[in-house]
Amino acid sequence: SRYSRITGTGSYLPPERLTNEALAQRLARDGIETSDEWIVERTGIRARHFAAAGVAASDLAVEAARHALEAAGRKAEEIDLIIVATSTPDMVFPSTACIVQRKLGAFGGAAFDVQAVCSGFVYGTAVADSMIRGGLATRALVIGAEVFSRILDFKDRTTCVLFGDGAGAVVLEASDTPGILASELHADGRHVEILCVPGTVSGGQVLGDPLLKMDGQAVFKLAVGVLESAARAVLAKAGRNDADIDWLIPHQANIRIMQSTAKKLKLPAEKLVVTVDQHGNTSAASIPLALDVAVRQGRVQRGDTVMLEGVGGGFTWGAVLLDF
Ligand code: ACO
Repeated sequence: SRYSRITGTGSYLPPERLTNEALAQRLARDGIETSDEWIVERTGIRARHFAAAGVAASDLAVEAARHALEAAGRKAEEIDLIIVATSTPDMVFPSTACIVQRKLGAFGGAAFDVQAVCSGFVYGTAVADSMIRGGLATRALVIGAEVFSRILDFKDRTTCVLFGDGAGAVVLEASDTPGILASELHADGRHVEILCVPGTVSGGQVLGDPLLKMDGQAVFKLAVGVLESAARAVLAKAGRNDADIDWLIPHQANIRIMQSTAKKLKLPAEKLVVTVDQHGNTSAASIPLALDVAVRQGRVQRGDTVMLEGVGGGFTWGAVLLDF
């Protein structure tokens, strides 16, 4: 039978890095009070990157994709599927994936975006895996790319300190051996309001509020529960157990959510990959960014069993278990 396997990873962060201290100083100019202590204690975040004006999600995506292609030893022309997971697309349409395809020069294959907010990369990876196993594609680029700085309300200190910009990518190829062992995807649309950007474009105008709104405590409570159940479900599907996990790479939103998930899976702290401290929450980009950092540090190695877990607006969640 046919499987899919990650053959290369890549990532990209825009050069402007803002520490909590620098962000706090910037917000203070508008009379908004926050501090490094508050942000670190509640979230584990110490710094984030922001894209310069005029830099779009596709620009970050292309850089991450180039690094992933290089790591896989592949040329852009060999790619026959591009999935971009993003909630901050360049345009209303066409998809950011089509814009990435043009910038990479990888014409002719399928290209589309996946919109599952912070679960987007897990959704995109599961979809690409299904397409490869079903014979619809042989070599895919799955990219998470976000410019969340564009949808942040810098007058709302409860949200603007949490997010950052960036992109991560993997090359996923057809293979005789797995690769991806099992996936789980879920959504519960009853919770649309707890994390959303409610506005839209209509009649040539922005209708409604175009900035991010979040009920942090409601998100926190839901996230912890669904992350455990998704992890258990993929382990059961793959016939593995907690002890088989070499690395847990959850969506990087908040260190407390991540640590409580690791604890529920009885994983020691060393098996949890953490980049939220340096990147903040980069939504769909956070998992492939963290994976690439861990691969390039020599921590995640060929043959390791890795659990990816996403959770976010929708409410959406999911998990992918894979042998790297
Ligand atoms: N700086 C200083 N003080 C602040 C800040 C800030 N940036 N933000 C809020 N506060 C204050 C509040 O005004 C409040 O003050 P009060 O008690 O005088 O009213 C106090 O801090 C506590 O606020 P809470 O909102 O109750 O703080 P909480 O402990 O819930 O932490 C947080 C907020 C960090 C958002 C938390 O709820 C959380 O982590 N939620 C999970 C949400 C998340 O991670 N979302 C990411 C996106 S979703 C996803 O990716 C899955």
